[in-house]
Amino acid sequence: MAGTANLLCQTSSVEDTRRLGERLGTFMKSMDAPLCVALIGDLGTGKTHFSQGIAIGFGINEEVTSPTFALMNTYETAGDNLYHFDLYRLDEEDELAPIGFDEFTDDTKSIVEWADKFPDAMPEETLWVTIDRISDTERKFIFSSSYIPYNELVQIGGPYVFGN
Ligand SMILES: Nc1ncnc2c1ncn2[C@@H]1O[C@H](COP(=O)(O)OP(=O)(O)OP(=O)(O)O)[C@@H](O)[C@H]1O
Ligand SMILES: [Mg+2]
Repeated sequence: MAGTANLLCQTSSVEDTRRLGERLGTFMKSMDAPLCVALIGDLGTGKTHFSQGIAIGFGINEEVTSPTFALMNTYETAGDNLYHFDLYRLDEEDELAPIGFDEFTDDTKSIVEWADKFPDAMPEETLWVTIDRISDTERKFIFSSSYIPYNELVQIGGPYVFGN
Protein backbone atom coordinates (compact mmCIF):
# COMPACT_ATOMS: atom_id res chain seq x y z
CA MET A 1 0.00 0.00 0.00
CA ALA A 2 1.22 3.49 -0.80
CA GLY A 3 2.22 5.71 2.10
CA THR A 4 0.50 8.83 3.31
CA ALA A 5 1.69 12.25 2.13
CA ASN A 6 1.43 15.12 4.59
CA LEU A 7 1.90 18.81 3.87
CA LEU A 8 1.66 21.84 6.12
CA CYS A 9 0.35 25.17 4.81
CA GLN A 10 -0.36 28.45 6.56
CA THR A 11 -2.59 31.43 5.79
CA SER A 12 -2.53 34.87 7.40
CA SER A 13 -5.90 36.25 6.28
CA VAL A 14 -9.32 35.29 4.98
CA GLU A 15 -8.14 36.22 1.49
CA ASP A 16 -5.19 33.81 1.78
CA THR A 17 -7.52 31.01 2.86
CA ARG A 18 -9.81 31.69 -0.07
CA ARG A 19 -6.87 31.72 -2.47
CA LEU A 20 -5.52 28.44 -1.07
CA GLY A 21 -8.98 26.95 -1.56
CA GLU A 22 -9.06 28.35 -5.08
CA ARG A 23 -5.75 26.62 -5.88
CA LEU A 24 -7.22 23.33 -4.69
CA GLY A 25 -10.43 23.92 -6.66
CA THR A 26 -8.47 24.57 -9.85
CA PHE A 27 -6.50 21.38 -9.28
CA MET A 28 -9.72 19.43 -8.67
CA LYS A 29 -11.37 20.77 -11.77
CA SER A 30 -8.37 19.75 -13.90
CA MET A 31 -8.31 16.21 -12.50
CA ASP A 32 -9.47 13.41 -14.70
CA ALA A 33 -10.26 11.37 -11.59
CA PRO A 34 -12.50 11.59 -8.52
CA LEU A 35 -11.53 13.49 -5.38
CA CYS A 36 -13.19 13.92 -2.02
CA VAL A 37 -11.90 16.84 0.06
CA ALA A 38 -12.60 15.89 3.68
CA LEU A 39 -12.53 18.99 5.90
CA ILE A 40 -11.82 18.97 9.61
CA GLY A 41 -11.90 22.13 11.68
CA ASP A 42 -13.63 23.58 14.72
CA LEU A 43 -16.31 26.25 14.51
CA GLY A 44 -14.97 29.43 12.97
CA THR A 45 -11.67 28.04 11.69
CA GLY A 46 -12.42 28.85 8.03
CA LYS A 47 -14.12 25.82 6.46
CA THR A 48 -16.69 27.94 4.68
CA HIS A 49 -14.19 30.48 3.32
CA PHE A 50 -11.94 27.63 2.17
CA SER A 51 -14.89 25.87 0.48
CA GLN A 52 -15.88 29.11 -1.24
CA GLY A 53 -12.35 29.36 -2.59
CA ILE A 54 -12.53 25.78 -3.88
CA ALA A 55 -15.79 26.62 -5.65
CA ILE A 56 -14.23 29.66 -7.35
CA GLY A 57 -11.28 27.59 -8.56
CA PHE A 58 -13.70 24.93 -9.78
CA GLY A 59 -15.48 27.52 -11.91
CA ILE A 60 -18.66 27.80 -9.88
CA ASN A 61 -20.26 31.21 -10.16
CA GLU A 62 -23.12 30.84 -7.71
CA GLU A 63 -22.82 31.68 -4.02
CA VAL A 64 -21.53 28.84 -1.85
CA THR A 65 -22.66 28.38 1.74
CA SER A 66 -22.15 25.32 3.92
CA PRO A 67 -25.21 23.08 3.65
CA THR A 68 -25.68 22.73 7.40
CA PHE A 69 -29.43 22.28 7.06
CA ALA A 70 -29.68 21.01 3.48
CA LEU A 71 -26.84 18.52 4.26
CA MET A 72 -25.82 18.51 0.57
CA ASN A 73 -25.57 21.10 -2.18
CA THR A 74 -24.89 20.33 -5.81
CA TYR A 75 -22.98 22.82 -7.94
CA GLU A 76 -23.10 22.20 -11.64
CA THR A 77 -20.38 23.36 -14.00
CA ALA A 78 -19.70 22.45 -17.59
CA GLY A 79 -18.97 18.75 -17.63
CA ASP A 80 -18.31 18.44 -13.92
CA ASN A 81 -20.36 18.67 -10.74
CA LEU A 82 -19.16 19.46 -7.25
CA TYR A 83 -21.07 17.94 -4.32
CA HIS A 84 -20.79 19.76 -1.00
CA PHE A 85 -21.76 17.98 2.22
CA ASP A 86 -21.94 19.26 5.79
CA LEU A 87 -22.24 16.43 8.33
CA TYR A 88 -22.42 18.70 11.39
CA ARG A 89 -26.01 17.87 12.21
CA LEU A 90 -25.75 14.10 11.75
CA ASP A 91 -25.40 11.85 14.78
CA GLU A 92 -25.17 8.36 13.33
CA GLU A 93 -23.30 6.94 10.37
CA ASP A 94 -26.45 5.22 9.11
CA GLU A 95 -27.95 8.66 8.46
CA LEU A 96 -25.55 8.96 5.52
CA ALA A 97 -27.28 6.48 3.22
CA PRO A 98 -30.63 8.31 3.08
CA ILE A 99 -28.93 11.54 1.96
CA GLY A 100 -27.14 9.71 -0.86
CA PHE A 101 -23.70 10.15 0.64
CA ASP A 102 -22.06 7.11 -0.96
CA GLU A 103 -23.62 7.77 -4.32
CA PHE A 104 -22.40 11.38 -4.44
CA THR A 105 -18.90 10.79 -3.06
CA ASP A 106 -18.12 7.61 -5.01
CA ASP A 107 -16.33 8.45 -8.25
CA THR A 108 -17.21 12.17 -8.02
CA LYS A 109 -15.67 15.44 -6.89
CA SER A 110 -16.86 16.47 -3.47
CA ILE A 111 -16.24 18.50 -0.33
CA VAL A 112 -17.28 17.04 3.02
CA GLU A 113 -17.30 19.32 6.06
CA TRP A 114 -17.06 17.64 9.50
CA ALA A 115 -15.76 14.51 7.74
CA ASP A 116 -14.03 13.42 10.95
CA LYS A 117 -17.44 12.50 12.39
CA PHE A 118 -17.53 9.44 10.13
CA PRO A 119 -13.98 8.88 8.85
CA ASP A 120 -14.68 5.32 7.73
CA ALA A 121 -17.39 6.56 5.38
CA MET A 122 -14.96 8.57 3.25
CA PRO A 123 -13.95 7.12 -0.11
CA GLU A 124 -10.43 5.90 -0.86
CA GLU A 125 -9.90 8.93 -3.11
CA THR A 126 -9.79 11.41 -0.23
CA LEU A 127 -7.64 14.41 0.58
CA TRP A 128 -7.94 15.22 4.28
CA VAL A 129 -7.62 18.91 5.14
CA THR A 130 -7.39 19.80 8.82
CA ILE A 131 -7.67 23.51 9.70
CA ASP A 132 -6.30 24.76 13.01
CA ARG A 133 -6.56 28.24 14.43
CA ILE A 134 -3.12 29.65 15.25
CA SER A 135 -4.20 33.23 16.08
CA ASP A 136 -7.01 35.67 15.26
CA THR A 137 -5.79 35.94 11.69
CA GLU A 138 -3.63 32.84 11.08
CA ARG A 139 -4.69 29.33 10.19
CA LYS A 140 -2.68 26.15 9.77
CA PHE A 141 -3.76 23.67 7.08
CA ILE A 142 -2.61 20.07 7.21
CA PHE A 143 -3.10 18.25 3.92
CA SER A 144 -2.97 14.49 4.29
CA SER A 145 -3.61 11.85 1.65
CA SER A 146 -2.66 8.38 0.56
CA TYR A 147 -4.21 9.21 -2.82
CA ILE A 148 -2.70 12.57 -3.86
CA PRO A 149 1.11 12.36 -3.96
CA TYR A 150 3.27 14.78 -2.00
CA ASN A 151 4.62 16.63 -5.05
CA GLU A 152 1.06 17.43 -6.13
CA LEU A 153 0.15 18.62 -2.64
CA VAL A 154 3.13 20.99 -2.81
CA GLN A 155 1.87 22.36 -6.12
CA ILE A 156 -1.58 22.93 -4.65
CA GLY A 157 -0.13 24.70 -1.61
CA GLY A 158 2.08 26.98 -3.71
CA PRO A 159 3.04 30.11 -1.76
CA TYR A 160 1.10 28.89 1.29
CA VAL A 161 3.34 25.88 1.91
CA PHE A 162 4.74 26.38 5.39
CA GLY A 163 8.27 27.74 5.23
CA ASN A 164 7.85 29.33 1.79
N1 LIG B 1 -6.65 33.09 7.96
C1 LIG B 1 -7.97 32.99 8.07
N2 LIG B 1 -8.65 32.13 7.27
C2 LIG B 1 -9.98 31.98 7.38
N3 LIG B 1 -10.75 32.63 8.28
C3 LIG B 1 -10.13 33.51 9.09
C4 LIG B 1 -8.73 33.71 9.03
N4 LIG B 1 -8.39 34.63 9.97
C5 LIG B 1 -9.53 34.98 10.58
N5 LIG B 1 -10.59 34.32 10.07
C6 LIG B 1 -11.98 34.46 10.56
O1 LIG B 1 -12.40 33.17 10.97
C7 LIG B 1 -13.77 32.97 10.63
C8 LIG B 1 -13.89 31.77 9.70
O2 LIG B 1 -15.23 31.64 9.31
P1 LIG B 1 -15.83 30.44 8.50
O3 LIG B 1 -17.30 30.71 8.42
O4 LIG B 1 -15.10 30.22 7.23
O5 LIG B 1 -15.52 29.24 9.50
P2 LIG B 1 -16.20 27.81 9.55
O6 LIG B 1 -15.08 26.86 9.86
O7 LIG B 1 -16.97 27.58 8.31
O8 LIG B 1 -17.15 27.94 10.80
P3 LIG B 1 -18.51 27.13 11.14
O9 LIG B 1 -18.08 25.77 11.59
O10 LIG B 1 -19.10 27.93 12.26
O11 LIG B 1 -19.35 27.11 9.90
C9 LIG B 1 -14.26 34.26 9.99
O12 LIG B 1 -14.84 35.07 10.97
C10 LIG B 1 -12.97 34.89 9.49
O13 LIG B 1 -13.03 36.28 9.44
MG1 LIG C 1 -18.97 27.09 7.96
